[in-house]
Amino acid sequence: MKTFASIALCSTFLTGCQALSTQVNPAPTALVDEIQKTSDTTSSFEKCLSPRAIELLSKMTLEEKIGQLHQAAGGRSKNLNSRLNEEEFDKVRRGEIGSYLHVAGAAELKEIQRVALEESTHGIPLLFAMDVVHGYRTIYPVPIAMAASWDDELMEEASRMAGRESASSGLHWTFAPMVDIARDPRWGRIVEGAGSDPYLGSRMSEAQVKGFQNGDLSAEDTVLATTKHIGVYGAPTGGRDYGTSDVSERTVNEVYLPPFYAANQAGSGSYMTAFNDIAGIPTTANEELVDGVLRSDWGFCGMIVSDWNAIHELTNHGIAKDRAEAGSLALQAGVDMDMTSEVYKKDLINAIKENPNLENDLNLAAGRIITVKEQLGLFDKGLQYHDVERERAEILKDENRALARKAAQKTAVLLKNENNALPITEPQKIAVIGGLAKDTMTQLGSWRARGDKNEVVSLLDGLTNNAPEGIEISYAKGTEVYESSFSYAPDRQVSVEDNIYSAPQADLAKAIETAEAADRVVLVIGEHYDWSGEARARTDIELPENQMKLAEAIFKTGKPVTVVLVTGRAMAIPELDEKADAILNFWMSGVEAGNALADIVYGEVSPAGRLPINFPRKTGQVPFSYSENPSGRPAHSNLAKDTNRSIDVETTPLYPFGHGLSYSSFEYGELTADTTSISSDGSVQLTTDVTNTGDMVAEEVVQLYMRDPYAFVARPRIELRGYKRISLEPGETAKITFTVQAEQSGIYVKRNEWLTQAGELKFFIGRSSSDIESETSINVTDQKRGSIPAAAIKTKVEVSK
Ligand code: BGC
Repeated sequence: MKTFASIALCSTFLTGCQALSTQVNPAPTALVDEIQKTSDTTSSFEKCLSPRAIELLSKMTLEEKIGQLHQAAGGRSKNLNSRLNEEEFDKVRRGEIGSYLHVAGAAELKEIQRVALEESTHGIPLLFAMDVVHGYRTIYPVPIAMAASWDDELMEEASRMAGRESASSGLHWTFAPMVDIARDPRWGRIVEGAGSDPYLGSRMSEAQVKGFQNGDLSAEDTVLATTKHIGVYGAPTGGRDYGTSDVSERTVNEVYLPPFYAANQAGSGSYMTAFNDIAGIPTTANEELVDGVLRSDWGFCGMIVSDWNAIHELTNHGIAKDRAEAGSLALQAGVDMDMTSEVYKKDLINAIKENPNLENDLNLAAGRIITVKEQLGLFDKGLQYHDVERERAEILKDENRALARKAAQKTAVLLKNENNALPITEPQKIAVIGGLAKDTMTQLGSWRARGDKNEVVSLLDGLTNNAPEGIEISYAKGTEVYESSFSYAPDRQVSVEDNIYSAPQADLAKAIETAEAADRVVLVIGEHYDWSGEARARTDIELPENQMKLAEAIFKTGKPVTVVLVTGRAMAIPELDEKADAILNFWMSGVEAGNALADIVYGEVSPAGRLPINFPRKTGQVPFSYSENPSGRPAHSNLAKDTNRSIDVETTPLYPFGHGLSYSSFEYGELTADTTSISSDGSVQLTTDVTNTGDMVAEEVVQLYMRDPYAFVARPRIELRGYKRISLEPGETAKITFTVQAEQSGIYVKRNEWLTQAGELKFFIGRSSSDIESETSINVTDQKRGSIPAAAIKTKVEVSK
């Protein structure tokens, strides 16, 4: 057996290896020898656990090890730290807690960490965690909006800022990125991910991991990322949160898992399992996926946490007869930490008595948690996370606000623009209509961490304060921001903070009057923040009724209308498309929302966001992806033919994946390949020219799609395989070269096996998935088997001007 000093302390995928390798203490090999373990377990010990962890494990009681596995809530999400009382301090002294979530604050968390380090038996530090998903205090646009930027560097920069702010506030660990692919916008949590595409999703996934961790977990300004919720959380039946996902093994591997794989490549230090099941197996108990695919096939060495109460909920799924069985299933699957259900804490000891083999799993789980704490530097400099001065300087500093503003500019998607509706530059009277224009809570979005609505620049304030000379703004809310009467649940409590209720008829009349007195209307409508996010499934993704009524009344005035759409999901808005001159999808855009909106509306910046998901014409079209497999009977406009379509609506989306307009115009050259054939190990360079033919500096997102026209299984109609957001001066041309590897056409065969087939590959360059400018094709001369999910492989892109 190797000595621990010479053992690789972490896999190549883990960050923090550097930090660890400098502190190799001789550790007892006894623990490894003493426990009867399978060779698998032994190699996990050697590969993934630090010497300090192994040494500590050899001294800890069963109860103390279980304590490390327990994550307790330090407060409710809206009432942080509220539970950190004397009783909790005693639990920490006794080693009963491994981590707290819903806590924050450099000063607030210092004492309890000091107690863990100095007064608990083994001096093991606590891990402090929070959902810092799109900003900590400087909230930036919701993740689906960030994906609409098609700008990986922006995503990384923003996550880096969130990591810095949260680490300055005593936090070590964020429950982000959320990388669940979602093709069904009825699902409220679509707001938290990157949309429908595994290639775009993989890029956004790795960008966030890199941003949060910055390649060095031990630095005091980085936080550990949690890639979540592994499994197929984004495809619950009917879009209803937590529901079963019954998708094929190929789709699991080709569509849902690639962003998780990409996160591992980027060094994600932890993962969270999903609440729901895939074909009957809840991920929290899915040994093949968690211990098999993630740990064994992908080589992930870090820590895995359950979702909130999910271990206990295994009894509700009907696969565990009681809590002890639930605990043993989760532990065996490889779930290290129990978020709040207290199953490990209270019931694992009995499970271990019944099945002593579980002790091996317990050692590994506790060891992985301790190892992560060490990678974060918490044993040696845990109290350095509690520097109040640093926190004060970091939080919401000007530079952070500037980044939030840039992000909000880059995420806006111009869906429609006719009659020169945008930008607005001439002196005139503008009526801003819609309560959402003032609703700062909604701009904070679904996970607002420590965001404060009083620090948000509302859309109305942004448009008013930045109005160019001669533009006058008036305002009327028209209707409530929230439709509060759910007829099926009249007693539902809603958390509307801006109470701007009054008699709706009067509100509407005032809005019409305000619109009529103006030259044009900027109509701010859409969904309130509480309609997106966890457990916020809708059966109808059209505009809420009150918003629709307001829109109809305003259209009737005959004034030119620019819609600013506020949303956390794809919506079906055919009426707006028909009647508005312009539609700017502005999502929920964070603390600088109003200023960024003004930058776009008044033409300081040309919009260049692109949709990361189809916007359907009707709810009934969802789930809906641009990259479906072709049918044997492709949709035909002639309803007399029996084809792959609905009879009551056009088959196409209202706005397709990749769609987004600009104030400028761009011309594309031909797409050319540097070769006509490559081997399965080879790559092709695909090049095109793009010219800004308009008269303002503007950005364009150049999109590369691929199709495998003939394979052993049907392949998607087209699939995204590369993109680049570029900025061009008027008249300027850029040459964009994508280097695509043959392996990026790999087809899932079986676990850990992907096949690159010989044959033709087609490539398309375009402005969106439905607006292709040019195409070319090459031949792959042989076949090979590999193990990398094709969509997770990044295409190299070079730009020359
Ligand atoms: C969510 C997770 C989140 C956790 C902790 C759960 O309800 O599903 O995404 O990280 O709560 O707040």
